[in-house]
Amino acid sequence: MCKIIAIANQKGGVGKTTTAINLSSSLAYLNKKVLLIDMDPQGNCSRGMGVDISLISRNIYDVLLDRQDINKVIRKTMIKNLDLISPKLILANLDSAVNGKVNEPFYLLKNNLKKINKKYDYMIIDCPPSLGLLTINALCAANKVLIPVQCEYFALEAVAQILANISSIQNTYNQNLGIQGFLLTMYDSKTRLSVEIASQVRSLFKENTFLSMIPRNISIPESNAKGMPVTIYRPNSISSQAYISLAKELIDYEER
Ligand SMILES: Nc1ncnc2c1ncn2[C@@H]1O[C@H](COP(=O)(O)OP(=O)(O)OP(=O)(O)O)[C@@H](O)[C@H]1O
Ligand SMILES: [Mg+2]
Repeated sequence: MCKIIAIANQKGGVGKTTTAINLSSSLAYLNKKVLLIDMDPQGNCSRGMGVDISLISRNIYDVLLDRQDINKVIRKTMIKNLDLISPKLILANLDSAVNGKVNEPFYLLKNNLKKINKKYDYMIIDCPPSLGLLTINALCAANKVLIPVQCEYFALEAVAQILANISSIQNTYNQNLGIQGFLLTMYDSKTRLSVEIASQVRSLFKENTFLSMIPRNISIPESNAKGMPVTIYRPNSISSQAYISLAKELIDYEER
């Protein structure tokens, strides 16, 4: 069965997009069929996969508004087993485009993903840093949420807020939504703050925190700038190894 995971945290710059790209490419490397869905109108996820959203026409916006078949907007990537769906800047206006015209505006993505879920083992959704219509669509379509937590100031405040948002979605639109886990990102063992945040998150959410941690490392911004996953750009880097270990942890959890 296809597993749909939304990568969400309303706090900006915590590593959502980096995680969406590199978890997807690591799962694909481990022979899983994966669809990466970029739901952020900024298009950073697509750019990180070498796709410039200002130069393409096939996009998720037209699918959500029922103007295009979802099968037609899926593009192959440089990685075997990994497909991508991209946004369009105008996706930011989805709210006003559907306002009053659509019966179930929160289920637009879910209803479309149903049509293609037999093709994939995993769908990974990169969410924007806010709880607007786009993130709500992602959380309604998903079985699980993966929450990147940056080992920095105010990390726990952001975690409290996302947990409140998830429980409000569970109580209203998607009772089946579960928490896949918290992922510690940009971990730097040399800074005391990083170590403290990591230990606080682990003690608060022991069962739900991935054992794999993503270290802060220059290979990540470099790979983003090159438009490729770090698993391809620097396959032997600690970043690449950390994301492959995360993907293995996820698969082991599914299959145990
Ligand atoms: N492990 C890491 N080591 C070093 N830099 C990182 C790491 N992870 C992410 N970054 C950098 O931090 C910045 C923010 O990362 P990213 O875009 O993945 O976060 P985001 O949560 O998706 O941001 P937004 O909320 O804007 O969508 C990027 O410049 C990225 O290259
Ligand atoms: Mg992002």
